[in-house]
Amino acid sequence: MPKSPGGALLHGFTIERGTGVPIYRQLDASMRRLILDGTLAAGQKLPSTRELAQELGVSRITVKSVYEQLVAEGYALARTGAGTFVADGLDIEASPKIRRPRHKPKSPAVKISERAKFIMSSKASMRHGKTEPFRPGVPALDQFPVKVWNKYLLDAATSKDRRDLSYGEVNGSAALRASIARHLTDARSMQVDPDQIVITSGAQQAFVLIAFALLNKGDTVWYENPGHIAGRDVMQIMGANIAPVPIDDEGMDLNFAINTHPKPTLIFTTPSHQQPLGTTMSLARRLTLLNYAHENNAWIIEDDYDSEFRYRGRPLPALSALDSERRVFYVGTFSKSMFAAMRIGYIVAPPGLVETFAQARNLLGQSSSAVVEQALSRFMDDGRFVEHIRKMRRIYRERRDILFDCLTKDCADSLEPQPTDAGMHMLAWLKNGVNDQAAHLALLEAGIESLPLSAYSAEPLPRSAIVLGFSSVPEKRIPKLVKRMSETLSRIA
Ligand SMILES: Cc1ncc(COP(=O)(O)O)c(C=O)c1O
Repeated sequence: MPKSPGGALLHGFTIERGTGVPIYRQLDASMRRLILDGTLAAGQKLPSTRELAQELGVSRITVKSVYEQLVAEGYALARTGAGTFVADGLDIEASPKIRRPRHKPKSPAVKISERAKFIMSSKASMRHGKTEPFRPGVPALDQFPVKVWNKYLLDAATSKDRRDLSYGEVNGSAALRASIARHLTDARSMQVDPDQIVITSGAQQAFVLIAFALLNKGDTVWYENPGHIAGRDVMQIMGANIAPVPIDDEGMDLNFAINTHPKPTLIFTTPSHQQPLGTTMSLARRLTLLNYAHENNAWIIEDDYDSEFRYRGRPLPALSALDSERRVFYVGTFSKSMFAAMRIGYIVAPPGLVETFAQARNLLGQSSSAVVEQALSRFMDDGRFVEHIRKMRRIYRERRDILFDCLTKDCADSLEPQPTDAGMHMLAWLKNGVNDQAAHLALLEAGIESLPLSAYSAEPLPRSAIVLGFSSVPEKRIPKLVKRMSETLSRIA
């Protein structure tokens, strides 16, 4: 029941003058209709007689007598000192006056745009909805320090300076941009001026803004294949031709791309931890890529979505840290390192382009909250962010090890797990010619999530595999779930 302590607004009815119907009757009929059709719910407060009289331009006596009549007939209840409320327990269904539509109104035939048709066919929404164990890319949400975070959030929301509750800055909070710049120096060896950063609502909005700002219809985008689904679809919606580039041991196969595809406007890559194959781009390949982009006037998106989680050796610096010619858009997100519902990410943009991104962010909907930006900045500055990452790194490493051991032991007939030194997911190659879509669906039936490798690919792949996220599954549960996985997969082999 809506509480509306000030009383319902009742903007839905007006008084028509000159119709010959007395104002009293019009008001009385409208009130009854709203109560009987459920618009005014049981227990809901009606506006005060003074306010309603003023809003409708009628005398207070008229409103008062309508209310008294409603109370006398049991439609409403007057509580001394509190106001007038819709009565509880009205048998609305039995009322002869009620007029509810018998059938749902037909929605008119809508001609959606070609762009919308493409959006409807995208598989990117797979990450929404209920989560079962092993869904790729989900952090250990039960380990997130919610109480601590809520303190920061509350502090930001109750700021003494009420201007903090406005839109904030056009490229995102200056404090957060400074916190991120410091973190990038510490964690990714990048020297970043906070003014180069534009805050977004996650990596996905960063891809939208970059595609919006750089791509014209028919432009070529070299895109890792298999690769991140939602980023690819955005580039395609913007009218770009997606040129799939296979992955070899060193990362994106640039020779293949140069020999096969037209010159690109944009190149999309995940060099720290290729999504989904897990390859780390070699230093030699990074330098070749940067040289190519410089010589051919191409831009690069470096999607660094889960680089916080490396379990062996020191991480290579970001591609962006080697980029002396400023061809790289570095994209970061807090969806993996903290939680996706926060909806905060960012772009480190080459000079001269920040203003364009800030304006585009404003025009396309500033969907990150200035309050959350403030809270996150303080959370980072107090060392809480790094503390959380360190803890998650330990937990994820253990979960990865247990999953790998269990798969090797219990799924030897159906799966070949691929060792991984980083990230939050593991690839498991399917044996016996089992199709990855079939495996994915059978596992889903058994309450286990995975993603078929083919979903990440724009064209058929030589081998079938499923992608298993280990970060969100408690250690204790993994052995039992893997046994269930083994039974399910042996049934479809
Ligand atoms: C490769 C890759 N990049 C980025 C993201 C993060 O997207 P966002 O920051 O919009 O939540 C994901 C999430 O699934 C991803 O898999």
